Amino acid sequence: MDLGLGNRVAVVVGASEGIGRAIAHGLAAEGAHVALLARGGAGLERVADEIRAAQPEAEVLAIPTDVTDPEAVDRTAAAVEAHFGRVHVLVNNAGNRMRPGRQITWSDDEWMLDVNTKLFGMLRGIRAFDSLLASDGSGRIINIAGISGHMVWETAMTHAINNSAFVQATKYLATDFAPRAITVNAVTPGLVATEWRHDWAASSGATQGKSEDEFVKDVCRQKGILLNRWAEPSEVADSVVFLASSRAAYITGTTVIVDGGLCVNPRVGVVN
Ligand SMILES: NC(=O)c1ccc[n+]([C@@H]2O[C@H](COP(=O)([O-])OP(=O)(O)OC[C@H]3O[C@@H](n4cnc5c(N)ncnc54)[C@H](OP(=O)(O)O)[C@@H]3O)[C@@H](O)[C@H]2O)c1
Repeated sequence: MDLGLGNRVAVVVGASEGIGRAIAHGLAAEGAHVALLARGGAGLERVADEIRAAQPEAEVLAIPTDVTDPEAVDRTAAAVEAHFGRVHVLVNNAGNRMRPGRQITWSDDEWMLDVNTKLFGMLRGIRAFDSLLASDGSGRIINIAGISGHMVWETAMTHAINNSAFVQATKYLATDFAPRAITVNAVTPGLVATEWRHDWAASSGATQGKSEDEFVKDVCRQKGILLNRWAEPSEVADSVVFLASSRAAYITGTTVIVDGGLCVNPRVGVVN
């Protein structure tokens, strides 16, 4: 299937590791040029080098940017405009990792850190890139939400707020951008085997006398993930790449859930 992504320009926010890294690889593999954003320059350059090695024809720009800083996001949009002229695909993926604890007892600053990064970071990104987004039917905004916006995931209160807001803001923004034929969709990952999730599973497993693999299997069983495993980051990226493509031109305002059946929540568990 030709996805029509050749020579399109994609901005991936939060691209230095995890799901964003996989999204950047996936888009470049389909012929897109990519601008990679995150705070850490070293991580961004590492991913930029990986992509250049894998896709020599892709133009790759790495721009250290903190999405909690509105002026920094605006400066980055100006740098992307100076280099590429316009943007076809904007992926809002930056977010903080889940931190344990009874989050209702957190300070305002702790709540604000999570909401300011993910929810307001997404809004800042869209505001900054708004005028650069292609209005010829190829413009795409894709927001990476999370399963805690659809169901209760223990300790994840701020993530629940961000992710449920992402789903509703995506519908609002789809309406706002429709007159310019720019589609706006969300992708909701479930449990994803990112680098930090591997560390989490290995260390949590060790405290329970289990291997990482055994721990992950137990979590998947306890959570009722129908497919009985976590996702590879590339499996989330595949849905993002499709939504970014010409083949998804008539999809807007929706959320694609990539959770292995977690939301089905059969409660009785999986028989096999
Ligand atoms: N992993 C999962 O199981 C899972 C499940 C559901 C949803 N999600 C969602 O998917 C997204 C990616 O998660 P992930 O697990 O791949 O996370 P990750 O591995 O921690 O990567 C997060 C990315 O965002 C960047 N970032 C963080 N704060 C930023 C800021 N203030 N400004 C700019 N960039 C920032 C990080 O780079 P720097 O630190 O260098 O800035 C990094 O590139 C998040 O929105 C998360 O909520 C993840």
